[in-house]
Amino acid sequence: MAVAGPRRMMWAVEMAVVVMIGLLAMASPTMQVSMKNPLREAVQKISEKTTVFAIIVTANSSEKAFNESGIFNPISSTVYKGRIFLLGTIQGSKFVFVNSPSFPTINAAITVEILADKFDLLGIIYFGSAAALNDSLSIGTVAVPSLIGATGLWKWQPDGAPKEGLLNFGEFNYPTKGENSLGSVQYEKSKVYINGTFKESIWIGVTPEWQQIADEIEVDSVQVVHGLSISSAKASVNNEAYKNFLYNTFKTSVVDTSSVAVALGAYTNELPFILFNGVSNYADGSDVSNNSLANANAVKVLNNFIYLLLIGSPAASYDD
Ligand SMILES: *[C@@H]1O[C@H](CO)[C@@H](O)[C@H](O)[C@H]1NC(C)=O
Ligand SMILES: *[C@@H]1O[C@H](CO)[C@@H](O)[C@H](O)[C@H]1NC(C)=O
Ligand SMILES: *[C@@H]1O[C@H](CO)[C@@H](O)[C@H](O)[C@H]1NC(C)=O
Ligand SMILES: *[C@@H]1O[C@H](CO)[C@@H](O)[C@H](O)[C@H]1NC(C)=O
Ligand SMILES: *[C@@H]1O[C@H](CO)[C@@H](O)[C@H](O)[C@H]1NC(C)=O
Repeated sequence: MAVAGPRRMMWAVEMAVVVMIGLLAMASPTMQVSMKNPLREAVQKISEKTTVFAIIVTANSSEKAFNESGIFNPISSTVYKGRIFLLGTIQGSKFVFVNSPSFPTINAAITVEILADKFDLLGIIYFGSAAALNDSLSIGTVAVPSLIGATGLWKWQPDGAPKEGLLNFGEFNYPTKGENSLGSVQYEKSKVYINGTFKESIWIGVTPEWQQIADEIEVDSVQVVHGLSISSAKASVNNEAYKNFLYNTFKTSVVDTSSVAVALGAYTNELPFILFNGVSNYADGSDVSNNSLANANAVKVLNNFIYLLLIGSPAASYDD
């Protein structure tokens, strides 16, 4: 507590400065700041946590696409633990945007925890690029997965272990299958904090209510696929044999490195969350890729989702 106290104070002071700058910068006729004592009112206002939806990305290319889309009107920013939190509006409602460090992925989970601690969050939206495992997906397609397979928890077994793992290296020997001193890998279950207790599973579900909203998404020129599964682990997949293994074993259609961290952070804080994974390349080692298209399309889908989300539950806006 001795540490947390002063840090919290610092955050409040930073936020006060930031919000004051914001208030000055956007002094519009609709602003309802008391003329008797605007400073005091502003400081009081930030002593309560700002109610926002959060958008988290883990790549500069995602941030660039977000900026270039022009959907976000930034109002203020604050730096905390090296992360830049941008406060602003989308379609008139309040959002906080952060580009989190992601290598290793635990960094993104820590960013979610900071968001949950510093803001009154209405939910978390992640978007970014992902690689296709499913050959029927094209570059630029945006997947809205319903299940995340946490496929990075490996128990590496010796060759000839009584209990072989699903990934048996000998089966990949070339030109013929056989023994391989790398043995095999067992996929272990993640611990997911749900309703006050930890449940163990390889699979983590995306918030059904938000998926239902996302089912209505329609964006010109962008193909959106719903209900597929994603593999997520801190291992970038660029190998045809492993791509086929993931697809055939787990029936996952895309693979990325961040989604599982965002999901675990959202579960820990009992927040709704959704993922928009734009397909940027194939996970098979081919060099066909278009990261900017993947992110640009994911932002278009994000913008349409926000429209549908806000119709359903109008969020706090700066005009309130
Ligand atoms: C992302 O952008 C930041 C700030 O411009 C820069 O410091 C960092 O090196 C970039 N990261 C990558 C992976 O390019
Ligand atoms: C995105 O815009 C913010 C300001 O709104 C800026 O600070 C940041 O550098 C921009 N990022 C990129 C990658 O252009
Ligand atoms: C948590 O419990 C509530 C009430 O029983 C239930 O409606 C909800 O679906 C549970 N959440 C999850 C993620 O299982
Ligand atoms: C691959 O993607 C298509 C949609 O493009 C889908 O119909 C199919 O079910 C997916 N395969 C698996 C195993 O999920
Ligand atoms: C990515 O896609 C966009 C839009 O289709 C296109 O203009 C651009 O040339 C593509 N970039 C690459 C590297 O293929």
